[in-house]
Amino acid sequence: KIDIYTFLVKYEPNLHSGSFLLPLASPESSTKGNFIKVEDNNPGYKLDNFCIPKHYEEDLKRVLVPAGLVADRVERVALDIVQDFQEEPIVALCVLKGGYKFFTDLLDRIKQLNSHRNKSVPLAVDFIRLKSYVDDKSSGQIEVIGGDSLENLKGKNVLVVEDIIDTGNTMMKLLSLLKAVEPKTIKVASLLVKRTPKSVGYRPDYTGFEIPDIFIVGYALDYNEYFRDLNHICEINEAGKVKYATKS
Ligand code: HPA
Ligand code: MG
Repeated sequence: KIDIYTFLVKYEPNLHSGSFLLPLASPESSTKGNFIKVEDNNPGYKLDNFCIPKHYEEDLKRVLVPAGLVADRVERVALDIVQDFQEEPIVALCVLKGGYKFFTDLLDRIKQLNSHRNKSVPLAVDFIRLKSYVDDKSSGQIEVIGGDSLENLKGKNVLVVEDIIDTGNTMMKLLSLLKAVEPKTIKVASLLVKRTPKSVGYRPDYTGFEIPDIFIVGYALDYNEYFRDLNHICEINEAGKVKYATKS
């Protein structure tokens, strides 16, 4: 004997996310609002609870998101992506340089799922390099400073893989550049979204963590190219900002 609730939980595992109530909703609706929220009052972790490169010990305030938690969350984002795409081929577009760790870890997980499920998502990769930050301030302009011609993305399912959505300006500009080459679909996965009053309101299709309005480094996120060689997502301190400020 199986009651309706058991039936739904068994055959509609996304019931709790509301997708059962919205059978006609587009696939992203069940994942767009699904992220780990790091609250403003979250103290994070003491630096000496973790292994931190010796050369950065004096330059950080705290660990905000440990690398192990990033790995666990990335695993789930990968699952959400393959469930949405089913068997549609994707071109994963890595936004360099900050996106490279999330990109490789996310693609490793998708590849793993591709050989452990009865459906698989063919993957191609592409890269684009953008620059908008000097010190801890957005320059207000984005520049495309590398990558293949975007023309190659015409007619493709493009999955943009980004490290962080801060104001959202960079992503809005990138999306308008991409739309101009007419991909079949465009989805965006961002490891982090910052809660900032400067936000233009943009929300990616897949989000790892929503974080407070502080400048963070590590897991490929930089401050003037430093701290990419730090595994954990950490808050930089004032000494670090001064030590690695642009000298110009
Ligand atoms: N850290 C590093 N890079 C960034 C950030 C940040 O907090 N926001 C936008 N780019
Ligand atoms: Mg950067």
